[in-house]
Amino acid sequence: MADIPLFTPLTIRGLTFRNRVMLSPMCQYRAQDGFAGRWHRSHHGRLALGGLGGAMLEATAVLREGRITPGCLGIWSDDHVPGLQEIVATYHEEGTPVGIQLAHAGRKASAATPFEGAQPLANDDPRAWTSVSPSAIAFGPGWQTPQALDEAGIARTITGFADAARRAVAAGFDFVEIHGAHGYLINSFVSPISNTRDDDWGGEHRFRFAVEVARAVRAAVPESMPVFYRLSSVDGVPGGIEVADNVALARELHAAGVDLVDCSTGGVSGPSGVASRPPSPGYLVPYAEQIGREAGIKAMAVGLIMDGTLANAIIANGQADLVAVGRQLLADANFVTRAAIELGHPDPNATLPQGLGFWLQRRKFEPAAR
Ligand SMILES: Cc1cc2nc3c(=O)[nH]c(=O)nc-3n(C[C@H](O)[C@H](O)[C@H](O)COP(=O)(O)O)c2cc1C
Repeated sequence: MADIPLFTPLTIRGLTFRNRVMLSPMCQYRAQDGFAGRWHRSHHGRLALGGLGGAMLEATAVLREGRITPGCLGIWSDDHVPGLQEIVATYHEEGTPVGIQLAHAGRKASAATPFEGAQPLANDDPRAWTSVSPSAIAFGPGWQTPQALDEAGIARTITGFADAARRAVAAGFDFVEIHGAHGYLINSFVSPISNTRDDDWGGEHRFRFAVEVARAVRAAVPESMPVFYRLSSVDGVPGGIEVADNVALARELHAAGVDLVDCSTGGVSGPSGVASRPPSPGYLVPYAEQIGREAGIKAMAVGLIMDGTLANAIIANGQADLVAVGRQLLADANFVTRAAIELGHPDPNATLPQGLGFWLQRRKFEPAAR
């Protein structure tokens, strides 16, 4: 097992992932007022049986107005904690550490769920709310013009991230990820496309909001708990952020206590997942490799990582420390077992709850002492 890089454990601070496959955060749009429900328990129950190295819950709003849609998960209130606790327990029972992505949708908030078309909610829709952003610039045609955050609004939002991180600890999560990608609030501070401020939060200070959020989250969680940050490696539009900007940002985030950058792309103006070349298996991996190496920080690769051979090569070649798998895990919750078979693992069934090897090695995941 130790000969297969994908199946070597990785320790970050006080947490050990038993293999390198991470469930990428994926919105389910099935929450009610931010609360996890039966869908989340089924969805994560299925994935918890798949022998993952780690799992990450979807973008979860740190403030009510930070939801993308009315169906998004929330952690802006202590009342959200028990529902999340149940999901955490499901993963822990099956040996998988679990994290949560702390998010604020910024100017992309107040949208309909994809089931309803994903367009911005109409102004007269009773579910609509006012969005906020660094500058009063709409995401695109048909989107509301967001309110530019003032100093008090910025402070309240940073506190929102810290309080959410504290609730994540209370719910038993083993790590947290700050959602700094896809054109949501943090990304829209970092990108000159959406941040035209000329105060201490814009121009040469565009990274400040991201770094202050990272500091606040780090201070709110135990020393032993890893903090990840998802960034958009490139905006993919003229005048937007490029890899070099993210290398500089990742260095600052690392100094602020972030342990790993999760390297996605795009979303600040147009779709997420854009790259300098067309989508193909592993097409975003070079971003994780470059940003991780040049910034001297651990990195997670994502984007069309469709099979064990590619996932293993990314780890074997040192291009990333973890691989995040999204849609392929929705299609096949047993991705890890199939990867084990594909890669000649001596006991692929060891990745299954029912596998004999699994029972021999089975350990309920014990969170780090805090
Ligand atoms: C249904 C769905 C929901 C998603 N929700 C999120 C999210 O909550 N946060 C996030 O950072 N990325 C989100 N993504 C992006 C995925 O995490 C991932 O980066 C992307 O799908 C590319 O990986 P894949 O090719 O393995 O699917 C979502 C993707 C899908 C398909």
